[in-house]
Amino acid sequence: MTVSRIPGLGVIVMAAGLRKRMKSNHVKVLHHVAGQPMVLYAVDVALQLAGHRIAVVVGHQSDKVRQVIESGIAGKPGSHSVCIVEQIEQLGTGHAVMQSRPAFYHVDEARPTNYLILNGDTPLLREETARELVRVHQAQSATVTILTAMLDDPGGYGRVIRRQPGGDHGHDITPSDVLKIIEDRDATPVERATKEINVGTYVVSGEFLFDALDKLEPHNAQNEYYLTDIVRMAVAQGRRVSAVTLQDPEEGLGVNTRQQLAAAEQVVRQQIRERWLEAGVTMRDPGSVWVDAAVTIGRDTVLYPNVSLEGKTTVGEGTIIRSGVRITDCVIGNHVEILDSSVLRESQVDDEAHLGPFAHLRPGAIVRRKAKVGNFVEMKKAELGEGSKANHLTYLGDARIGKGVNIGAGTITVNYDGVNKHQTVIGDHASVGSDTQLVAPVTVGRGAYVAAGTTVTQDVPADSLAIARVPQINRVGWAGKRRMLLTGNTPSKNPARAVGEQPKLKTNPASSKVKKGHTKSPKG
Ligand code: UD1
Ligand code: CA
Repeated sequence: MTVSRIPGLGVIVMAAGLRKRMKSNHVKVLHHVAGQPMVLYAVDVALQLAGHRIAVVVGHQSDKVRQVIESGIAGKPGSHSVCIVEQIEQLGTGHAVMQSRPAFYHVDEARPTNYLILNGDTPLLREETARELVRVHQAQSATVTILTAMLDDPGGYGRVIRRQPGGDHGHDITPSDVLKIIEDRDATPVERATKEINVGTYVVSGEFLFDALDKLEPHNAQNEYYLTDIVRMAVAQGRRVSAVTLQDPEEGLGVNTRQQLAAAEQVVRQQIRERWLEAGVTMRDPGSVWVDAAVTIGRDTVLYPNVSLEGKTTVGEGTIIRSGVRITDCVIGNHVEILDSSVLRESQVDDEAHLGPFAHLRPGAIVRRKAKVGNFVEMKKAELGEGSKANHLTYLGDARIGKGVNIGAGTITVNYDGVNKHQTVIGDHASVGSDTQLVAPVTVGRGAYVAAGTTVTQDVPADSLAIARVPQINRVGWAGKRRMLLTGNTPSKNPARAVGEQPKLKTNPASSKVKKGHTKSPKG
């Protein structure tokens, strides 16, 4: 991403309000839109434009908001210019902006030429639009430039009141026709009928902003210091107020209610899908695919219906993700195949690996190249080496498994003693039979075999066989006699047949000898 910042532009993001209309215990700007807290959308726009500092005004739940902002901007270009200021009492948007003054007034530093001011609750606003607003402000030598939108239903928004053609507004009006912004609650019925609304994005000249804010008065329905009143003040001083109207009014959506939050979510999700379709990703049913804002996807990757890619997930090229898969904060390689209903979190899957259906990767799972994780296999803090397979019904936790290993069905790493977690290590090309428990800490050496049904409690040396089972005893004819005792029926010549079993039931003499086939596990 190339960033071109505007010299001398300070940016202020207002994010201190709580607002009751969300009916939430959480501060509004932390509600997520496409997996990202709302405030970070405005902060991202700020990072791309600010040639001077960025002040984010926080208030309600300031510690949380501060933390979200700090982790959200970490590592991004320009993050050092962000400073977070506190508005202790929320006395209105004008009061919020006032709190940011110290962030820009440093003795040894030139002050901003212009300020871009952003509401923290307009997540659809694009960087290009804000840039255009600054351009118009500069080109028209305006004192204040506002962003407006025409809405069929402008209810709740501040209305933009323009001079009516031919109307008499005295001698002190500016060359532009914007007269003032009036809040919904303060508007007369005639003003309320105006369909042009204030989006809440402003560019204000440096020499004007804070002097004007000092003169604000809270004489309105909410007894607040309204930032919007600076428009009226500029007009009264004969200064120029310019306005840019959005082509697409949707972009100006302000989130005050859950309805508006849902609407914003829909729009952002659709934009994200379009971006990835454009970039060469196939979606079988785009409307049902959820991709969070920070996710990246390689070309020729195919997403089936109801796939969710969340958080900071990255997916490589040519990967296939089947229906009902949810992936959160993972790194997925190229040409991986993830079958239906798998859930992956904070894990890494290397190229050409194969997962699912119903695989569960918990934090710290690493699936190496060409490895296979089959149905009902759960991994946590475990690495499955290149080409290794755990195809069925298995739990691998706190384990390091080498290359070319076969883990039989029903294998369990017994990693927890009730207090501490312990490590299981399995060397390259080892083979673990079905229904094995590996009681950690334990090591199975390179090329070793573990017989099916073994509870491994001691390390297994390389190229050795470990077997721990109760010897099998066959009591010939026992079952038939018992059946006769219980039912009174005489045993048939062929007892197994009498109850519908296969005719060729072999009976082996009692033996505890290890025979060929003991270490076999189902092949998938
Ligand atoms: C504001 C505008 C309105 C505009 C609308 C667009 C004012 C007076 N009104 O109204 O003209 O149409 O946005 O969405 O500015 N905030 C603070 N501290 C405060 C109060 C608010 O930081 O004391 C922050 C909020 O967190 C929010 C932003 O300022 O991010 C806007 O505040 P909000 O209460 O949502 O204003 P609206 O009533 O929507
Ligand atoms: Ca708002």
